[in-house]
Parts: sequence; structure tokens; C-alpha cells
Amino acid sequence: MLARSAVRALAAPSSRLFSSSAARNTKVAVLGAGGGIGQPLSLLLKSDPLVTSLSLYDIRGAPGVAADVSHVDTGSEVTGYAADQLDQALEGVKVVVIPAGVPRKPGMTRDDLFNTNASIVRDLATAVARVAPEAHILVISNPVNSTVPIVAATLEKAGVFNPARLFGITTLDVVRATRFLAGVVGAQPADTPVTVIGGHSGPTIVPLLSQSSHGKGVTGEAYEKIVHRIQFGGDEVVKAKDGAGSATLSMAYAGAKFTNSLLRGLNGEKGVVTPTFVKSPLFADQGIDFFATNVELGVNGVEKIHPIGALSAEEQKLLDACLPELKKNIAKGKDFAA
Ligand SMILES: NC(=O)c1ccc[n+]([C@@H]2O[C@H](COP(=O)([O-])OP(=O)(O)OC[C@H]3O[C@@H](n4cnc5c(N)ncnc54)[C@H](O)[C@@H]3O)[C@@H](O)[C@H]2O)c1
Repeated sequence: MLARSAVRALAAPSSRLFSSSAARNTKVAVLGAGGGIGQPLSLLLKSDPLVTSLSLYDIRGAPGVAADVSHVDTGSEVTGYAADQLDQALEGVKVVVIPAGVPRKPGMTRDDLFNTNASIVRDLATAVARVAPEAHILVISNPVNSTVPIVAATLEKAGVFNPARLFGITTLDVVRATRFLAGVVGAQPADTPVTVIGGHSGPTIVPLLSQSSHGKGVTGEAYEKIVHRIQFGGDEVVKAKDGAGSATLSMAYAGAKFTNSLLRGLNGEKGVVTPTFVKSPLFADQGIDFFATNVELGVNGVEKIHPIGALSAEEQKLLDACLPELKKNIAKGKDFAA
């Protein structure tokens, strides 16, 4: 039986996961809906009052997931599409979330997924460019540091790239940082939000604990430990799943949370700010033209890219380690798509 608080969280549109403002006609597609992330993500999006129509696509299993999820008693319509129905799945969509691709096994880095996932993401982006060129694209497929530049280059080639509408989902790093900090300081996660900047893999993940009222008190060994855990938290899950994949449930939560933030922004809500990996001017002069920082989301998608703010000496070191790695990851994506 679900705990009473869980029932409330699922039922209440104003819960922390889903805040709602004025409902508009918002069709959301999930590409990779049959997978470990795709299935729970589809369920969570079905529970989001800001999603009015849900289009589920995968090369296998999406019609079954759609039939199942469609019985949930919320307002949105759900349709599943088989492998040869990608174009139909994308018709009229406002937001496309992409968790398609293979996940890590123990011992693998996210970059090891490049060879398989790069072409999957490129092909899906090509279809979005053709059928729904104005859609906002939210990339979950790893390595995010490379797959986002691949999507950008693919859209650019098709002549439809708008940097305000492309996002790498780094929300899981934010969710982990927030939860881990709450554990360390003995507070509720609602009171320990952490901004995480950079990219989405090991050393490119840069948590800014000094900018958090609870985080700035964490020093010495405790600081080293929590930073390592935020950067490599994904490995804990990969190891515990022992060959059966990487984070799926917490990622689905993070994906649904980011999608809800974007939809609130698109619906005109002001002040929706969250970290995400976007085309960014912040380090472009160093050849790093994608970077995650706090971004204000609005009716056009990216409304304002916030600066990184003041860093502690430790955070400056983390950033110094992040930048060259991120630069390599971005270049790899661009080279692939060239
Ligand atoms: N951004 C993040 O924080 C984050 C976190 C965890 C996992 N991930 C990544 O998300 C991706 C998916 O992970 P998962 O655990 O759900 O994997 P999974 O193998 O369980 O599911 C992937 C799904 O993608 C589908 N797929 C493959 N090629 C496709 C295509 N061309 N079109 C449509 N669907 C296609 C598969 O059929 C499968 O159902 C992986 O790349 C993983 O590394 C990202």
C-alpha cells in the first residue's frame, strides 16, 4: 500500500514534483518510452497536469506501455507508436524527451556509450527536425556532454536549430546533490537545494555547495566525500544493479521534474530557474559552447542563462578540472555530427 504522503504527492498537482499553472494544450513525446527510464518517466508525465497529450515511441514495446499508462485516471490522452511510426509519434509535439539508447554496465563510463547512442540520438533529432522543428528537445541519453552537441549540429544542418529549445537534462545531479546534502547536515531536502554546473559525467559535474546555506558549512573530509558522491553517485546505482543497467527510477523522477519546470516556463510562469546543459556563452571563448548553469525557463524555453556566481577555492579547482574534459566531450559530439 502506498504511504499516505506518497498518495498525496501523486494526487496533488501542487506537490514538489509537479507544480501546475494555467493548463495549455501541451503534447509531450517520449522517445525510448519502453526502456528502464522511459516507462516510469511516461507514468510520471501521465500524472503531470501540465501534459495534455502523451506520445510514446520506442523501437520496441511502446504500444504496450501506452496501453498500460493510459488507464491512469488523469486528463491526458496517451498514444503508443511502434518502431516504424516515429513521424506519427512526433506530429504536433511541443516537447520531446529522449531517453533512448543503451545504459552503462559496471566498469563503463558514460563516454563508453558514445558509439551506440550517438547515432540513435542523431537519427531521432533528424526526425524531430523534419516533423516537429519547433519542439523543445530534452536529452537524457548519455553521454549528455556529447549527445546535446550532436542534436544541436543535426538541427543546425537541417536549418532549424534554436538554442533556446535544446536542453541536456542534468537534473539528476541536482537531485542527488540536494538529497546527499540533506543527509549530511540532517535537514529536509526541500531546505538544501544545490546548484550543479558544468556537464553530466564524473569530473565535469561541479556542485556549488558554497552557494548553499547548509552546504557552505560542509568542509574537510565530509566535503571531499560529498563532492565525490555527487560526481560518481551514478556508479553506486550501476554497481548495485550489477549489470542490469543504471539509474532509471531516480532519473525518471528527475526527467519528469525538469519537464514540469519547462512546461511551467512555457505556460508563462515567471521565475522558474533550474540548472540545465544548454548552448551557453559563459565559456564559449575557451571553445566550450555548451555548459550547465542555472537557467531561467520561460515562454521561449531558455529565457536567461545565469552566471556561475562566486566560487570557493575548492570549487574553482573542480571547475578547472571540468573544463578540459567537457571541451573534449563536446568536440567529440561535434566531430561525429559533422
Ligand atoms: N541524463 C542522465 O542523468 C541519465 C541518467 C541515467 C541514465 N541515462 C541514460 O539514459 C539512456 C537510457 O537508459 P535506460 O536505463 O532507460 O536504458 P534501457 O536500455 O532500459 O532503455 C533504452 C530504450 O531505448 C530504446 N531505443 C533504442 N534505440 C532506440 C531508437 N532508435 N528509437 C527509440 N528508442 C530506442 C530501447 O528499445 C529501450 O527501450 C542511457 O543512455 C543512459 O545512459 C541518463
